[in-house]
Amino acid sequence: MNPDSRSQAPALRVRDLRKTYDTGVQALKGVSLEVQEGDFFALLGPNGAGKSTLIGIVSSLVNLTEGQVEVFGTDLVRERSAAMRLIGLVPQEINFNLFEKPFDILVNYAGFYGMPREEAEALAEAELKRAHLWEKAQVMSRTLSGGMKRRLMIARAMMTRPRLLILDEPTAGVDIEIRRDMWRVLREINGAGTTIILTTHYLEEAESLCRHLAIINHGRIVEQGPMRALLAKLDVEGFLFDIDGDLPAQLPAIEGVTLVAADAHTLDLEMPRAMDLNRIFAALQAAGIRVRSMRTKSNRLEELFVRLTANLETKA
Ligand SMILES: Nc1ncnc2c1ncn2[C@@H]1O[C@H](COP(=O)(O)OP(=O)(O)OP(=O)(O)O)[C@@H](O)[C@H]1O
Ligand SMILES: [Mg+2]
Repeated sequence: MNPDSRSQAPALRVRDLRKTYDTGVQALKGVSLEVQEGDFFALLGPNGAGKSTLIGIVSSLVNLTEGQVEVFGTDLVRERSAAMRLIGLVPQEINFNLFEKPFDILVNYAGFYGMPREEAEALAEAELKRAHLWEKAQVMSRTLSGGMKRRLMIARAMMTRPRLLILDEPTAGVDIEIRRDMWRVLREINGAGTTIILTTHYLEEAESLCRHLAIINHGRIVEQGPMRALLAKLDVEGFLFDIDGDLPAQLPAIEGVTLVAADAHTLDLEMPRAMDLNRIFAALQAAGIRVRSMRTKSNRLEELFVRLTANLETKA
């Protein structure tokens, strides 16, 4: 491939990728996807879907069985080390030496990749500052909080100046404050031009961060595209109504609408997206139910995910 076509190549191009482990498990059964340069891309899927296998192959930790992977136009099999240089990986588990200082962890990591010491020190300072860890540069890493440890993992991955940063469940099992903290850092890195791919179980995370996504299940892509287009596909909308006073024992029946009492003062409602809310309000008013306020249910992606997965299972 000539340099010109490479500069226009997507950050990641995966074609008909298959992986069969030695145990006979077919973890990937023909996966194709593209991630454009500059994108923030989510890879979603339930346990065992094949997400880590896909990421493992792209970051050269796992050998592919069949198919093709290109990173910025560089073939992963034919030009493995060149492809690897373009990628930074943040694994799920914390895997740095807890008895080293953050600054040394970063400088030594870059040194391992052949970066001259002076350059590594300057970059380590910049990355620690971006990760809001500069004041912790010289403490024992063991003493960092959970969120700081995770940010340190990201800063370390950035030391090789990757054009594509891949994170495997970066926020699994961490509380919302740490997650938000990481989101901020990741947005900043993406804003500065680095393409990001992450896997997550947290659908709101994908919704909040990512512009495109692919949903993978049983080793196949079941859906991919812009986040917005996927959400728009959902034909059902959910609301929570806060009710003045108590709800009647018998809720009104409204055709095409599911009404459930979430508690004595909250009504959980699902309706077709195209339906007019006025109809709902009229029916509620006729039943003597006064709506004080309403909220949108924020689990649209969750719904989408459950549906797509359920669809696939009935098709299988
Ligand atoms: N090293 C391995 N040897 C054999 N089978 C494996 C290996 N790694 C993964 N698998 C199998 O491949 C399938 C896909 O696993 P993978 O780890 O890619 O899923 P995942 O989507 O990352 O799941 P999770 O959300 O639980 O991390 C599973 O059936 C798993 O048991
Ligand atoms: Mg995994």
